[in-house]
Amino acid sequence: MRTGAELIHSDRERLWHPYANPYRHDPLYAVLAAEGCRLVLDDGRRRHEVVDAMASWWSAIHGYRHPVLDAAVAEQAGRFSHVMFGGLTHAPAVRMAERLLDLAPGMSRVFPVDSGSVAMEVALKIVRQAEAGRPRPRTRFAALHGGYHGDTWGAMSVCDPSGGMHALYAGQVQHHVFLPRPPAFAAPAEEVDRWAERAGALVHAHRDELAGIVVEPILQGAGGMWAWAPAALRQMRRWADEYELLLVADEIATGFGRTGRLWACDWADVRPDVLAVGKALTGGYLTQAAVLTTERVTRALAAGPAGVLMHGPTFMANPLASAVSAASLGLIAEGGWQRDVPRIEGVLAAELADLRGRPGVADVRVLGATAAVELTAPADLRVATEAAVAHGVWLRPFGRLIYAMPPYLADDDELRTIAAGMRAAVDAVAVRRVA
Ligand SMILES: Cc1ncc(COP(=O)(O)O)c(C=O)c1O
Repeated sequence: MRTGAELIHSDRERLWHPYANPYRHDPLYAVLAAEGCRLVLDDGRRRHEVVDAMASWWSAIHGYRHPVLDAAVAEQAGRFSHVMFGGLTHAPAVRMAERLLDLAPGMSRVFPVDSGSVAMEVALKIVRQAEAGRPRPRTRFAALHGGYHGDTWGAMSVCDPSGGMHALYAGQVQHHVFLPRPPAFAAPAEEVDRWAERAGALVHAHRDELAGIVVEPILQGAGGMWAWAPAALRQMRRWADEYELLLVADEIATGFGRTGRLWACDWADVRPDVLAVGKALTGGYLTQAAVLTTERVTRALAAGPAGVLMHGPTFMANPLASAVSAASLGLIAEGGWQRDVPRIEGVLAAELADLRGRPGVADVRVLGATAAVELTAPADLRVATEAAVAHGVWLRPFGRLIYAMPPYLADDDELRTIAAGMRAAVDAVAVRRVA
């Protein structure tokens, strides 16, 4: 077996990493093993056993090497690993769709895809195709400042308009209508009313161009870990109904219990017309996402000029991925998350509370199994990562945020370790800034 140092050396010469310059050496660790919510890393000089605070970007909710998920993949690999989905079907896809629809009241059909970004592309196409049957089809979307929906072309167009992606592709992606970011989760009703006045004026002004509203319900993830008021989501549902727009809920990060409700939309008792899921769908084992539609949307699309949804990826409903999704959905349906997510929220909120008001810290936000410490200036990635790893925690800060969304099975000791790692990262970044 090759050593961590050998892997890192070869990687640095051959591979791209996300949002990383190939010639500037950001911290890089080789993963030697992963089990439960622990990773064994090698930095090229020594090993570190760390608690994973990231759940591999929100996906590994049941942890690594889960026996039920391992068995689902192995069993399906013993039958067949992939077949096309055009004209063929199989037990894992059917089981996955049945379980997903059981968990998503109001939804009636599932379009499986390969990743969250592709799910958003398909969601946008669904809205446009459902709209195509109208006398004067509308083609634009309303989305939120601070939103993030993926890195592909259409998904980028509904991401925050002043963020990096938009700045880079300014004038190239379709220009949509951006509503102000809604007020904080616990904001008073008057603040939500003021937001609704400004946002509502924009929706009204563009009512003849808008086909849908695209939103990460209740918690904006990669755009700033911002938890926002459920009343604002209810308001968006009302606008969608009033102007006959489709409401697209991007629950790729928030779905499957992450915010403390099965769906973040449940905080507002709102049902979307189109629902995108991904990340934790497979328990983080394989790449699969899905778009769910209501019967009304499915019928509108089927009655449109094309009559079919114009999308068909090679790996649609991949049997290995569908098998592990079905198994993960089975674990979610058992409901352990309903005990674990509030427990995680309680421990992280208590452990991080005293960072509030500390020099260099702008805010501390905890919702469900997510915790974010927002700094007053961008965190140095190397300094923050190395401080956390030295404290036995895997973190991946971005911008001004040092944040965690651990696997649901993290026990209280592991959660306290995660909080200590976050504090160490905050301290290291702050000390370096003063020095
Ligand atoms: C809310 C949301 N939508 C879409 C995506 C894109 O998913 P993927 O990275 O699987 O393409 C992400 C990924 O972080 C996300 O957080």
